[in-house]
Amino acid sequence: MRDAAEQMSVDELRALQLERLRWTLRHAYSNVAFYRKKLDEAGVGPEDLRSLEDLARFPVTTKDDLRDNYPHGMFAVPMAEVRRIHASSGTTGQPTISGYTEADLDNWAGLMARSIRAAGGRPADVVHVAYGYGLFTGGLGAHYGAERLGCTVIPASGGVTGRQVRLITDLRPRVIMVTPTYMLTILDEFERAGLNPRKSSLEIGIFGAEPWTEQMRAEIEQRAGLDAVDIYGLSEVMGPGVAMECVETRDGLTVWEDHFYPEVIDPASSTPLGLGERGEVVFTSLTKQAMPLIRYRTRDLTRLLPGTARPAFRRMERITGRSDDMIVLRGVNVFPTHIEELVLRVPGLAPHFQIELTTRNHLDELTVHVEARDDLPLEQRQTATERLVALVLDNVGIRVAVSVGDPGTVERSAGKMRRVIDHRTGAVEGPA
Ligand code: DLL
Repeated sequence: MRDAAEQMSVDELRALQLERLRWTLRHAYSNVAFYRKKLDEAGVGPEDLRSLEDLARFPVTTKDDLRDNYPHGMFAVPMAEVRRIHASSGTTGQPTISGYTEADLDNWAGLMARSIRAAGGRPADVVHVAYGYGLFTGGLGAHYGAERLGCTVIPASGGVTGRQVRLITDLRPRVIMVTPTYMLTILDEFERAGLNPRKSSLEIGIFGAEPWTEQMRAEIEQRAGLDAVDIYGLSEVMGPGVAMECVETRDGLTVWEDHFYPEVIDPASSTPLGLGERGEVVFTSLTKQAMPLIRYRTRDLTRLLPGTARPAFRRMERITGRSDDMIVLRGVNVFPTHIEELVLRVPGLAPHFQIELTTRNHLDELTVHVEARDDLPLEQRQTATERLVALVLDNVGIRVAVSVGDPGTVERSAGKMRRVIDHRTGAVEGPA
């Protein structure tokens, strides 16, 4: 059974959004000094929003705004009404804090239940949650959603991979919720223990919290024998369950637009872009009480597409990466997801890789550290290396160095994989 909202017509959805957007603007303006000042400075007020298109006249909110108002400055309700706090660690400086009222937590659990159902999960399924529990929204977000759907939850959290395999083997979950890179670590552990993951009870994998590619989907599905679907979210906006890929179409992430209003803007000029145009996705919350967000710039790059599995809800294409994960190498823009696609096209190379950036003779260099698969004979490593160098040159337009190591030599992820290590002179930080 779908939620009533999932069956709305476009007109019904737009009317609901307009009503909720007006409420959000009034709520934020009346209760958050930051928004009052920002809207006053921009010369717009809640009463200026007469149609959804008017939202483009309102100022955007950035991660820096959240940091500047750390810890509670963005809250629109008294602390006594805040039931839970989550945080995203970030790579530098202040963490960003999110707060939830009871109603916010209730909506979140409902949206996660909807997301798990869209992935093919059903009441009474056993769900293994290997997203980290704690300040990170992955574990608890998945947990309460699965319980809400009526599932049995295994709250494994991330790490202790031998135990993950044991729990999956003994408790026979049908669904696993985990980052795609940690799923790879779990699959390796199955094989190390002499078990065939295709024979496990798992039928559905709900993967997100980091960028991954179609090639990675094929790799995981082939090795694990399950349907792998994409889930998106961010702690500032809520956590997982902002958008979810529906298993029947597997064509990108359906945005749960009854709670989050999406826009895509040009990251440089902030100009709104049309359906199908690539840029940075921006969300305005429609129901959040504790921390309403007006036009929050996610830095995530994608494009909006028309609805399919849920016709009234727009989709978001799989995220290419964050604008701050983009590597600019000798004037060429490279995303770790580009490298992932290409690594997975070379037979004999494992999906485990890291990108190292260095400076030599004032020139930036990129090295892809990748592993050989178990079955790649030593004498064929050179060929695999050359193939990857050529693929990157042809597809990205830069010459990179490739180092193919033994299986197990690239750092393993227990959550979000750190894809880039930046040793360049003057580099402030490596993207997370
Ligand atoms: O990663 C929430 C989450 C948990 C989503 C579990 C899905 C599953 P944060 O730690 O705040 O929250 O990080 C949010 O992660 O802005 C994206 O850059 C990235 N991200 C999340 N989901 C995806 C995805 C959680 N499916 C940041 N594809 C976001 C690509 C993703 N990137």
